[in-house]
Amino acid sequence: MIKLGFIGTGNLAASILKGLQQNSKDFEIYLYDILPEKADLLARQYKARACDFPELVQTADVFLLAVKPKDIKDLLQDLKVYKLGGKLIITVAAGIGLSVYEQALPGVAVVRVMPNTSCAVLQAVTGMVRGQAVTEQQAKIAEQIFSAVGKYLWVEDRQINAVTAVSGSGPAYFYLFTEVMAQVGAKLGLSKEEADFLARETLVGAGRMLAEDSRSPQELREAVTSPNGTTYEALEVFRKQGLKELVGQAMQACLKRAEEMEGEYRG
Ligand SMILES: NC(=O)c1ccc[n+]([C@@H]2O[C@H](COP(=O)([O-])OP(=O)(O)OC[C@H]3O[C@@H](n4cnc5c(N)ncnc54)[C@H](OP(=O)(O)O)[C@@H]3O)[C@@H](O)[C@H]2O)c1
Repeated sequence: MIKLGFIGTGNLAASILKGLQQNSKDFEIYLYDILPEKADLLARQYKARACDFPELVQTADVFLLAVKPKDIKDLLQDLKVYKLGGKLIITVAAGIGLSVYEQALPGVAVVRVMPNTSCAVLQAVTGMVRGQAVTEQQAKIAEQIFSAVGKYLWVEDRQINAVTAVSGSGPAYFYLFTEVMAQVGAKLGLSKEEADFLARETLVGAGRMLAEDSRSPQELREAVTSPNGTTYEALEVFRKQGLKELVGQAMQACLKRAEEMEGEYRG
């Protein structure tokens, strides 16, 4: 059994615990949160053990730092006093590079990950960066954890802000599109509920097509676009109004903000 300790038991920790409970029997789980009631609640729900910080750090072989970026600095200070040789730290905090952990805890094995909120329905896609000291076996453990909540992709540390721009923030882009389609549908004569239902289910169905049909997004789009038909007319408006450029600008802005956040963290 792999002893996995969660430091921070908020939304993300709860999603990962749900995924592990459904998809893996290899983990013995320890939970610690600054608010012990939170860890207790999840421990009851997911057959895990709530414990204090020293017990978790000394017992677990793998720690998942599931706290907000603002809490990482203090956490690294707290971890410094422990012997962490042979242990793996997995961190989900956005905007904090691997070097921050490797400098604070020299020699420690760190995997930096960027999941997305679809963890909650075990359909996340997670970008993962492997630190210098991470062994093959430790990399496999990180893969096992994040495949329990969806799919994963190994990338370089310098690519993680691009991962944020595509898949980290990506769910919100599609929610916005769905929101707008529902609002417009209501203006076109449907009730708000009808338009909302149709827009949501369209996104869900299109997502499933992308997952299950081997054709590319472009091929799928072309398959529903007959020349001079209704879809064609709609797509022409997107093309003429520069949707591609707009999406590009939005994703660049996301990337820039992620870079700024890294800068702010380094101080
Ligand atoms: N939710 C997602 O799907 C998702 C997706 C991608 C990335 N992330 C990243 O995952 C991280 C966690 O997100 P979340 O949504 O799970 O946040 P969250 O719900 O706020 O959970 C974090 C928990 O950790 C606690 N905490 C803070 N400092 C701590 C410490 N030193 N030791 C132990 N516990 C501590 C917090 O307590 P307080 O509330 O009292 O501060 C809170 O209960 C963030 O860095 C976020 O960017 C999340």
